[in-house]
Amino acid sequence: MRSFALVSALAAVSAVQAGPTKRASITPVTTKGNAFFVGDDRFYIRGVDYQPGGSAANVDPLADKKICEPDIEKFKKLGVNVVRVYSTDNSLDHTDCMNALSDAGIYVVLDANNPLYSINRENPGPSYNAVYLQSVFATIDAFIKFDNTLGFFSGNEVIHDNKSTTLAARYVKATTRDMRQYIRARGYRHALVGYSAADVTDNRMQTAAYFNCGTDDERSDFFAFNDYSWCSSDFVTSGWDKKVKSFSGYGLPIFLSEYGCNANVRDFGEINALMSDKMTSVYSGGLLYEYTYEENKYGIVNITTGRANLAGPRVELDEFAAFAKALKDNPAPTGTGGYNPSATSQPCPAKDANWIVETTLLPALPDGAKKFLTEGAGKGPGLKGAGSQNAGGSSTTDAAPGSGTSGVTAGAAGTTSKAAGVSLMAPLDKAPFIISGIVAFFTLAGAFAL
Ligand SMILES: *[C@@H]1O[C@H](CO)[C@@H](O)[C@H](O)[C@H]1NC(C)=O
Ligand SMILES: *[C@@H]1O[C@H](CO)[C@@H](O)[C@H](O)[C@H]1NC(C)=O
Repeated sequence: MRSFALVSALAAVSAVQAGPTKRASITPVTTKGNAFFVGDDRFYIRGVDYQPGGSAANVDPLADKKICEPDIEKFKKLGVNVVRVYSTDNSLDHTDCMNALSDAGIYVVLDANNPLYSINRENPGPSYNAVYLQSVFATIDAFIKFDNTLGFFSGNEVIHDNKSTTLAARYVKATTRDMRQYIRARGYRHALVGYSAADVTDNRMQTAAYFNCGTDDERSDFFAFNDYSWCSSDFVTSGWDKKVKSFSGYGLPIFLSEYGCNANVRDFGEINALMSDKMTSVYSGGLLYEYTYEENKYGIVNITTGRANLAGPRVELDEFAAFAKALKDNPAPTGTGGYNPSATSQPCPAKDANWIVETTLLPALPDGAKKFLTEGAGKGPGLKGAGSQNAGGSSTTDAAPGSGTSGVTAGAAGTTSKAAGVSLMAPLDKAPFIISGIVAFFTLAGAFAL
C-alpha cells in the first residue's frame, strides 16, 4: 500500500508538471499447485465474459477505446477483476484498453484462436499447421507485454459431445504445448495457457485428465470449463457439489470460463458458492457469461445501438445490480482456501467408448513453425485473410514427450513438436445444444471451437 501511495503521489506530481504520467503497476498472475496467485496472495477469478456484438460481430473490443472505455467504467462498478475476450485482432494495438484495464485492476484472459485461424474439430490434423500457429503466436506477442494479461486459451469447446471430436484433443494439447514453448523461447514472462472445455458428462473427466497428463511441457497451466448447470438453483441441485468431489485432487488450477443461465431471473448464488470453502479447495472462481446482452439473452448490459455502433450508449439491465451485489456480498476469501500446493500430473485417460484417442503422443511442431521460436511470429493476420485451416504445412510426425522443453530451461528454444487444436465452424452461433441431458450452449468460443 505504501509503495502504491508513493506511485500515486508521483503520478500526481507528474500530471501537474504535464510530464509523462507514471503508471501504477499490476502484478502478473502466477500459479502454484492447483491455485492462482498474485504475489503471495491466492487469487480468485471474479469476472465476466466480454464480447460486445457477440460472435456475429467478431469485433476486437480491446483495440478500440471508444468501445472498451465505457465498459471499463461498468466493470469498475461491478467490481470484476478479470474479463475474457474471445475475438482479438493480433494486427492491432491494444495499449489504450489494456492500460485502462490495468489501471482498474482488471486482468484479461484471451482466446488465442478465432474463426479463421483455428483447429477444425472435424478434421483436426490438417488444420494444425504453421499458418495457424503463426496467428496464435502473434496473439501472444500482441498481449504478453501487458502485465494484466493473465493468460491464453489454447482452444474453446473443441471437444464436445460427439465422441469423434475427442480425436481433436491431441491437436489442442499440442497447441497448448507450442504456446507454452513459444513463451519460453521468446524469453517472455510466464503468462498462463490452458483449455476452455465444454462440460460434457461423457468426457468431462477424461478431458481434464488429458490436459494434466504427460511431461510438464505437455501439461497446461490451468483447466477451465463452461458450465450451464446452475440455473437459479443451488449448489446441490446444479450438481456442483458432485463436480467439486470429482475434481478433488486435480493437479491444475480450475475455474469456470463461462457460467450462465438465461431461463430465470438470476440472483448469482454461484458467486456465494465459488467463494466459499465448499469450492475453494478445488475451484478458483469463474466468469459470468456474459456482459453484453445479445440474441442469446444472457447479458447484463444492453448496448442500445446494437452491432451498428458498439460504442453506443450502455444501459444496465436488472441483473447488472444483482451481479454487482453478489460480488460485493461475497468477497474473495482470505487465506489459502485449502488449495493443494503440491498438485501434480496424473495418468492419461485410457481409450474407451467415449474417449477414442489412441495414443498419448502429440503431433510434432510443424516444420514451418519452428522458425517462430527463434525469429518470433512476425505480423499477425488479424481477424481477416485467407484463414489457416486448409493452408497446408501440417505436422507430419509425432513428437517425443518432453520435446517442448519444459520450464526448467526457461528461455531455451527447443526444436520441438507442436500441435494446435481449434476448430472450424461458422463463427458465433450460440445455438442451444443439449449435452448429456443438460442444456449447454456454444458460445462464441464454441463457434471458434467448432
Ligand atoms: C460426429 O462427427 C463425425 C465426424 O465429423 C460425423 O461424421 C458424425 O456424423 C457425427 N455424429 C453425430 C451423431 O453428429
Ligand atoms: C436494448 O436496447 C434496444 C434499443 O433501445 C431495445 O430495442 C432493446 O429492447 C433493448 N434490450 C433489452 C434487453 O433491454
